[in-house]
Amino acid sequence: MAKIPQQLVEEVRERVNIVDVVSPYVQLKKQGRNLFGKCPFHEERTPSFSVNEEKQIFHCFSCGRGGNAFSFLMEVENISFPQAVLKLAPQAGVDIDDSYLDNQSNVQVDSETKALRELYAEATKLYHHLLVNTDSGEQALAYLTSRGLDESTIDAFMLGYAPEGNILYEYFQTQKIDYQLLRKSELFVEWSDGSLHDRFTDRVLFTIRDSSGHPIAFSGRKLTSDDDIPKYVNSPESPLFNKSNELFNLDLAKDTIKKQKTVILFEGFMDVIAAFQSGVVNGVASMGTSLTVEQVQQLSRLADKISITYDSDMAGQKATKRALDLIAQHSRLSTQVIHIPDNQDPDEYLRSNDADAFKQVMTHNIEDPVTFNLRYLQIDRNLNNQTEFFAYISDALGVIATVEEPVVRERFLRQMANEFELSYEALQDQIRPLLLRRQAQQPSNQRYQQQKRANDSSQAYSNTSNVTVKRNVSRVEKAEQILFAWMLHDNDVWLQVTNYAGFSFQDVSYETLFMIAMAYRQEHQQEPINDMAAFMDYVQKPELTRILASLADVDPQLFNDRDQVVEYINVINNEAPLEERIRQLSREIKEANQLQDKARVAQLSVTYLAALKEKQSKNTKH
Ligand code: CTP
Ligand code: MN
Repeated sequence: MAKIPQQLVEEVRERVNIVDVVSPYVQLKKQGRNLFGKCPFHEERTPSFSVNEEKQIFHCFSCGRGGNAFSFLMEVENISFPQAVLKLAPQAGVDIDDSYLDNQSNVQVDSETKALRELYAEATKLYHHLLVNTDSGEQALAYLTSRGLDESTIDAFMLGYAPEGNILYEYFQTQKIDYQLLRKSELFVEWSDGSLHDRFTDRVLFTIRDSSGHPIAFSGRKLTSDDDIPKYVNSPESPLFNKSNELFNLDLAKDTIKKQKTVILFEGFMDVIAAFQSGVVNGVASMGTSLTVEQVQQLSRLADKISITYDSDMAGQKATKRALDLIAQHSRLSTQVIHIPDNQDPDEYLRSNDADAFKQVMTHNIEDPVTFNLRYLQIDRNLNNQTEFFAYISDALGVIATVEEPVVRERFLRQMANEFELSYEALQDQIRPLLLRRQAQQPSNQRYQQQKRANDSSQAYSNTSNVTVKRNVSRVEKAEQILFAWMLHDNDVWLQVTNYAGFSFQDVSYETLFMIAMAYRQEHQQEPINDMAAFMDYVQKPELTRILASLADVDPQLFNDRDQVVEYINVINNEAPLEERIRQLSREIKEANQLQDKARVAQLSVTYLAALKEKQSKNTKH
């Protein structure tokens, strides 16, 4: 297996912003120069996890974990380095082939998973066979046909029929499958005497497959419209099936989603299947209206855009609203809403119209999130009533205030003015405080919405790094950066600094690099370090090589006046006590944490936060 070329790795690293990588997992709030949130790696009540956007690193003061975007993903998703690079590649607009993935380590499944998968594969085959080839499946087949499905669709989705009785259990008995395995599979219900009985009886079966195509669960639909029995019976959670992680049809839709960068999100099985049969093959279903964060994250790895195509009934609209908010909060996917006419769900619409009409709807009945929200706010409101009307206007302005681009905002405001015969100026006056408040808060979520839009309009993610706001660098940091660059560049300066009694870098990364450089110089008898790329390979740690890379930005003009060396040393030694105090406190908190001395942690944390505040106010004054 080939390694991902270093150049591609670097390209990805440079183009993604760690804030975007972390944001889906951690709610970040800006505090001074850094963003803070609750560490995703352990339980905590006060945020000790920080992201330094400028340095593109994260660090948890409490557990000590730290690194760059890659290491964050590796740790949080429990994946390998190449997997992390590949995962971020789409965001970075870098095209990297899947073949770099280490398939061996990737699909190491335990024997139980393997055995369970085999059971499901067998069950799927049996149920499908019963549906299409046997008398017992005749009625079910007629039912599916009456719902417009043709043979090849039924085959493609491996639809099945589970008859009355215990046919699956008996089938596995003939194969002498282990009782415990059958129990675990959740294909059966267990009676109080321990006996197992087919879970699905007299139902059409939708096979739920994982993203690699393994059947992992079933959902059985009743054949009748009898209101006394539930419409669907589902597999419960099992070692194979965690409903909140799965999207129906992701395996078949994946390639098209990746290619088109767009995914269509439906509610139900039949919506996906009917759309598929009509040629719309990038659809998946959340299997109901409760879209989950995990589902959103999966889709955001494949697509740039998501079209929410839920039922047009009230439940569907509510779910759409919820989905829009969830997606905005947890991904950088851009969103649109497809509105199915006549209060139908997509499957019903397809049946009462044709494939062309459906495609028309999919391409023309589109609402952007703001338009959807404005319409949604009107539902259940009587706008003829003054109080409700003003409440609506106020809520609507809240929605419009989330729009970043002034021009777009203006358009919505003008529309609103026209629609309700209000003055544009009055609306402008009323939205102004909302805009100011938003700007003051600048929640990280909105920040990347903003970035996303900037990227969308340029049709690529490649300029992500340009959008990133450069933060002010403190004097100490600046001094450390220049001095270290200078030391590597000029041997006399190296010697001058190393001979300066009591000097050390305040920033742990620089101090670490300093020590590594010392070892490197000894090993390579190389003074000064001219080949930075080679030194980076030696350093290896991505978060440190990144800092080395930033040294290239230091203007060599600064290396002319040797008197400045002592100046920099003084800045680092004298102006850093606060920073050092903060670091010392964080070390002490860590130790206290390790000793599980809660009282001391609490006490230290108060001092720590006070110090952070002090630093913060200093930074804003500069
Ligand atoms: N669903 C489920 N379990 C339930 C109810 C619903 O998993 N008990 C999921 C299914 O994926 C279903 C979707 O939610 O397809 C939407 O539910 P609903 O609108 O009730 O069903 P339809 O898909 O419209 O089913 P049909 O067209 O067969 O009536
Ligand atoms: Mn339906």
